[in-house]
Amino acid sequence: MSTVARTRSATGPVPRGRRCRSRHRDERAGNVAHGAEPPTGTVPRPNRIGWTLTATEVPAGTSTLAVRARDIVKTFGAHRALDGVDLDIPSGTVLGLLGPNGAGKTTMVRVLTTLLTPDSGTATVAGHDLATEAGAVRESIGLSGQYAAVDDNLTGYENLYFVGRLYGMKRAAAAARARELLAQFQLEHAGDRLSKTYSGGMRRRLDLAGALVISPPLIVLDEPTTGLDPRSRLNTWDLVRTLVADGTSVLLTTQYLEEADQLADSIVVIDRGRVVERGTADELKNRIGSERLELVLADRADLPVLRTVLREVGAAEPVIDEQVRRGHVLVHVGTKTVTEALRRLDDEGVHVLEVALQRPKLDDVFLTLTERDAHPDPESERPDPAGKGTRRWLRRGAKGGQ
Ligand SMILES: Nc1ncnc2c1ncn2[C@@H]1O[C@H](COP(=O)(O)OP(=O)(O)O)[C@@H](O)[C@H]1O
Ligand SMILES: [Mg+2]
Repeated sequence: MSTVARTRSATGPVPRGRRCRSRHRDERAGNVAHGAEPPTGTVPRPNRIGWTLTATEVPAGTSTLAVRARDIVKTFGAHRALDGVDLDIPSGTVLGLLGPNGAGKTTMVRVLTTLLTPDSGTATVAGHDLATEAGAVRESIGLSGQYAAVDDNLTGYENLYFVGRLYGMKRAAAAARARELLAQFQLEHAGDRLSKTYSGGMRRRLDLAGALVISPPLIVLDEPTTGLDPRSRLNTWDLVRTLVADGTSVLLTTQYLEEADQLADSIVVIDRGRVVERGTADELKNRIGSERLELVLADRADLPVLRTVLREVGAAEPVIDEQVRRGHVLVHVGTKTVTEALRRLDDEGVHVLEVALQRPKLDDVFLTLTERDAHPDPESERPDPAGKGTRRWLRRGAKGGQ
């Protein structure tokens, strides 16, 4: 079971509308096998301001796909930004599209939201074909872009009100929805101020609210928490969880591995336009080593010995942090490995201050996956804040120095 599934069961009361998800958790949380054709035809068109799907309209035991994309290729000149990407988002689930800067996340978002035409490949969104039903695809999506699309010269309220009017809502309905969203995004107090006076976090929240005005079946969030302070990030996570509890499907791109771990039912990792891994957060963690063994030494001079020992007992390349005299490695059979590592270090006369065995972090998964085929110059192309320092240590380690 994914982290989100666990978290979600603790989510509070389901708010308004769209209680259409009666499908089984297992079916929703896992990866969808490619080739199994879902009955996309059973998904009715949403109306302009709401989603009309009810539980009775979905035949029991069948799943629908909010997004089904196959072999999407997009080149910019000689550069293949997307190089044959497949992905499925079962309705009512969150797919985390994870990758470093330049991996192709925004390009995939732009393709799926009809802002960019792919060179080849096919996709449906809420059952509508991307190539032949672009209008219906757009009506099915609420997009919150990587760069907030907020009109500075309007108030927060006006920004939301006009989105509603653009989508054909009546005045009273658009006004009510705008006020409702301002309250939901903790912007009530600032609703009548020009949005140019908003802080970065407030702008992002307003932008996110704009994507929700029409309650679309699919919300696309391109790096929704980039640049947010930790508190706003947690608030955004809560909002995403509320949306999903309400039946919305979400495509979420992120560079923050923790974010995908927290929110995504399934994760697709892309790097340089290609899918390098897919699965639930737990599956990805299990695939590369089930636990993370971490040790802190008393003496920095012993770090080379620690590296050698961790390399021998671990399932991946150890990572050594010289500054804090700490090393960690992913391991498959936890407790035995701990004992073995400690015995070996003791034999060498190494003084160990701390030992910990933890579930691996998604950062570990990410590093393992993207370092696997040793890119020639990963740092310049992939300034990933979460993993940069660690990569530097890795490289140092690879050169044998401390
Ligand atoms: N309009 C464009 N013209 C040329 N190259 C582009 C364009 N959009 C994106 N790219 C390139 O495609 C690659 C993927 O970019 P992008 O999808 O924005 O990555 P991400 O969102 O994962 O950071 C990058 O190398 C980027 O420079
Ligand atoms: Mg991007």
